[in-house]
Amino acid sequence: MIIAANWKMNLTIREAKPLVNSIKKYKGRNKVILCPTFTLLPEMAGMLKKSRISLGAQNCHFEQKGAFTGEVSPLQLKDVGVSYVIIGHSERRSCNAFNPDYNRILSKKIHSAINAGLIPIICIGETDEQRKKAQTKKIIKKQIEASVPKKGKYIVAYEPVWAIGSGKTPTREQIEDIHEYISKLVPGTKILYGGSVNEKNCKEIASISGVSGFLVGGASLEANKFKKIMHV
Ligand code: 13P
Repeated sequence: MIIAANWKMNLTIREAKPLVNSIKKYKGRNKVILCPTFTLLPEMAGMLKKSRISLGAQNCHFEQKGAFTGEVSPLQLKDVGVSYVIIGHSERRSCNAFNPDYNRILSKKIHSAINAGLIPIICIGETDEQRKKAQTKKIIKKQIEASVPKKGKYIVAYEPVWAIGSGKTPTREQIEDIHEYISKLVPGTKILYGGSVNEKNCKEIASISGVSGFLVGGASLEANKFKKIMHV
């Protein structure tokens, strides 16, 4: 299993340190990846140096350097010890909802991340409105076809937008059905589930066929909860 923590825009260095200290000795069989905000990355990289836990970022630009004020490049992420990068999270897609070209930008980011030696975690998923109109598979197919690279290593995270931070999760059958659908589009790719994963439901979700791990938001900010998820 791959257990990735998306800390989103949370924690200062002072707040993150005790959390990392309490989990960094992890010796379990799962691959654990922490994705803090940019400002925490150098400090976290130092803390995780001798640990089996890897570091990820939450976004990157599609160029490696240049006049792009406020952006961070894949090369710069690699430079501070980052190995993974989340791309196309729904919270970033929604900031760019009015850009009809955004899927193409995501595709450029993914290529650029792979070129810099990072492994992208590509997020896809339907909104509640799309789900109610029975468009889930159509949306997922469109997101995958528009952004997933032909070459290079990557991970896909299926995160139904309506399940994120809501305490709601799809049924076992729904998760299995969508993961199977995605695996037919991108055979051999690891597919994570994300959206209200917590210490109570992680065992059940991990047992669903086609689920290779989780992308965890809220529950990754509390050591006791995240430790249980890490050991799933
Ligand atoms: P929650 O686990 O808080 O629902 O967030 C999921 C998520 O968006 C991870 O990327």
